[in-house]
Amino acid sequence: MKKTRTQVAIIGAGPSGLLLGQLLHRAGIDTIILEQRSKDYVLGRIRAGVLEQGAVALLEEAGCGARMRQEGLVHEGIEIAFRGVRHRIDFKALTGKTVLVYGQTEVTRDLMEARETAGAPIVYEALNASISDIETNRPRVRYSKDDVEYEIECDYVAGCDGFHGVSRQTIPEDAMRTYERVYPFGWLGILVDKTPLSDELIYVNHPRGFALCSMRSATRSRYYLQCRLDEEVSDWPDEKFWDELGRRLDSEALKQLQKGPSIEKSIAPLRSFVAEPMRFGNLFLVGDAAHIVPPTGAKGLNLAASDVAYLSRALIARYGSNSMAGLDAYPQRALARVWKAERFSWWMTQILHRFPEPSGFDEQIQAAELEYLFSSKAAQTALAENYVGLPY
Ligand code: FAD
Ligand code: DHB
Repeated sequence: MKKTRTQVAIIGAGPSGLLLGQLLHRAGIDTIILEQRSKDYVLGRIRAGVLEQGAVALLEEAGCGARMRQEGLVHEGIEIAFRGVRHRIDFKALTGKTVLVYGQTEVTRDLMEARETAGAPIVYEALNASISDIETNRPRVRYSKDDVEYEIECDYVAGCDGFHGVSRQTIPEDAMRTYERVYPFGWLGILVDKTPLSDELIYVNHPRGFALCSMRSATRSRYYLQCRLDEEVSDWPDEKFWDELGRRLDSEALKQLQKGPSIEKSIAPLRSFVAEPMRFGNLFLVGDAAHIVPPTGAKGLNLAASDVAYLSRALIARYGSNSMAGLDAYPQRALARVWKAERFSWWMTQILHRFPEPSGFDEQIQAAELEYLFSSKAAQTALAENYVGLPY
């Protein structure tokens, strides 16, 4: 067993772990990041695409803003299509704020490069991670790599290992409460090297199901269709995807649609999930390890960033001035923002999707929600301020 020591052991090299690692490194705090997958595997996952200004500011604080500023697309609003008519929600006019379209893959790449440039340790393909002694001031993380066993002794463990990670599972069941809603549909997404059909994202409520026209750049489009949970990617050859998308778009959008061969295609189930509290002893849960939102409000990655903001500041205060106040307040601070994003993502999901076997009442309420939204500046402002991101 090879033994080593660090101040903060970070499990997971998704956006949470990498961003936390970078902010702590810049503050002179030692970290080791453990990632069970290879670097290429992590970079190959196509996920989120929209960054709030708070997440952008944090990436800049981490010294990873240059390419994002250059290549990211500033979006001042979105469109919502209902009954064949598109309605624009003008974020800039309603809140003075905008969002940035810059893919999670690019964020991850920038953060990985920054870590390599800094020479800070990151272990890819670190297997069988296990955490022990979290209720003491000397927690330990064990893992294996190339058939060699390692042990890291540390002050704190940051569980940044996503929904299926080991960190949350380390917390005793009776010390944790979980809340969950599983939705009866998924999102089928494709990525295609074609110009997006519009300059802004279009969210579509259609009798055949939800659709989303998004993008990653001026030449790369990302489209999603609501699909059934029993469907698989192999059920959806490209032609079938384009036909179905065409049926859900208005005629003007359809005219602008540029089809092409998909370069990625995947299905994501939709789920809301929160585990409380986000701390047990000296283990802190961050991002998807503690909470999941359905993707409809583009909040998953942005919530991971706000958790990282709270935890990095708390750890910097702990090492800088020996103040424990930030660490003690972390679960409460993070969860207050998490629940607001859970509410918004649930609401966006509720108003935009077709639910199996809806009652007539449910359908009328959904239509009334949307008609109220399109007619009320107050309702549009509520959507806009949540979409661009609540303060942290
Ligand atoms: P993750 O990105 O999940 O990173 C966790 C990392 O930990 C992974 O690299 C994993 O390999 C590693 N890991 C796990 N277990 C271990 C272990 N035992 N040891 C070591 N390492 C481990 N959000 C949006 O806003 N918009 C979207 O369109 C969107 N689409 C999504 C599609 C999918 C299929 C998924 C799964 C998520 C999507 N999200 C989306 C959510 C968003 O991508 C996440 O909120 C974000 O990735 C959270 O970052 P994270 O670092 O907390 O977790
Ligand atoms: C994307 C995903 C979302 O969930 C969303 O609300 C907006 C954009 C995307 O992947 O591009």
